[in-house]
Amino acid sequence: MFELPKKEEIFNHGIPSTPDDITEIVIKAMGRTENSRLREILQALVKHLHAFGREVKLTEEEFMMAINAVTELGHLTRDKHNETMVMSDALGFSTLVNILNQDRDPEQMSPALLGPFYTRKDPEYPNGFNISRDKPKPTDIPLFVRGKVVSKNGTPLKNALVEVWHASPEGLYDNQEPAQPANNLRGKFRTDEAGHFNFRTIRPASYPIPTHGLVGRMLAAQNRHPFRAAHLHFTVSADDHSTLVTQIFPKDDLFVESDCVFGVTSADLAVDFPEHTDGNAPEPDVTGTYCTLDLTFDLSPGESRLPQSPINA
Ligand code: BEZ
Ligand code: FE
Repeated sequence: MFELPKKEEIFNHGIPSTPDDITEIVIKAMGRTENSRLREILQALVKHLHAFGREVKLTEEEFMMAINAVTELGHLTRDKHNETMVMSDALGFSTLVNILNQDRDPEQMSPALLGPFYTRKDPEYPNGFNISRDKPKPTDIPLFVRGKVVSKNGTPLKNALVEVWHASPEGLYDNQEPAQPANNLRGKFRTDEAGHFNFRTIRPASYPIPTHGLVGRMLAAQNRHPFRAAHLHFTVSADDHSTLVTQIFPKDDLFVESDCVFGVTSADLAVDFPEHTDGNAPEPDVTGTYCTLDLTFDLSPGESRLPQSPINA
């Protein structure tokens, strides 16, 4: 049995006088939300959602398509795949939220979206470690990454945490391909006294995002290709500094200007991955072509907080 609320507990938001009043009435009905941030978000959501419905004059058939689309996002989301996140990425919304929340000045390295494959479970390794755990293939190009983490004023940050993850040259993350060793192409490194870190991996390639569901159908309907420019993902964090979430792209990649999730937020993220054939690779087992990448991550003072993983891999 349910219990009726007492008459004096009921807030009468009223009845619309005209159909146009519905938005104001809904906003008013939400006005007693005690959590002020929740109230602000939900009232703004109603305002913009209703305005959107009016602007496109949504038909009932289109409304049912939208309901089915949201339902499908939920059904397609599994432990190892987050279709809702991928949709947000393909709508450019993840990039917008990333930019809004990264406390960066224009002269600092730009942030970029987290993406759906951040696990946070990657092991911490000593500097110099090779995060490419799979059997080397003749087509792999070894990549030696060296970098530095500094505070915005240039002071080197020791013991900063640099987390890296990227897809294989075939375009798949370890959690998408059971044949890859666990945590392949993922790892965490700590900076030394001078703020330096380094690791070895293989050069990533551009790849298509998962297109088996709604996002794939949306991209096809919009005549958009599903490719991401090749990239390495990073989170960089240090005590008393706000965490930088970003990606680094080879600037000669075919998709730098058409990344399907708008990941190249600024030209400074597209950099040279110089290729060498000099026989002087940092490790003696590399005798052929190899690449190097030099990075400087600058952090703003603030709160150190790692993002949540969108998957349970
Ligand atoms: C990625 O970086 O791997 C990615 C980002 C957005 C959607 C799908 C994949
Ligand atoms: Fe990625």
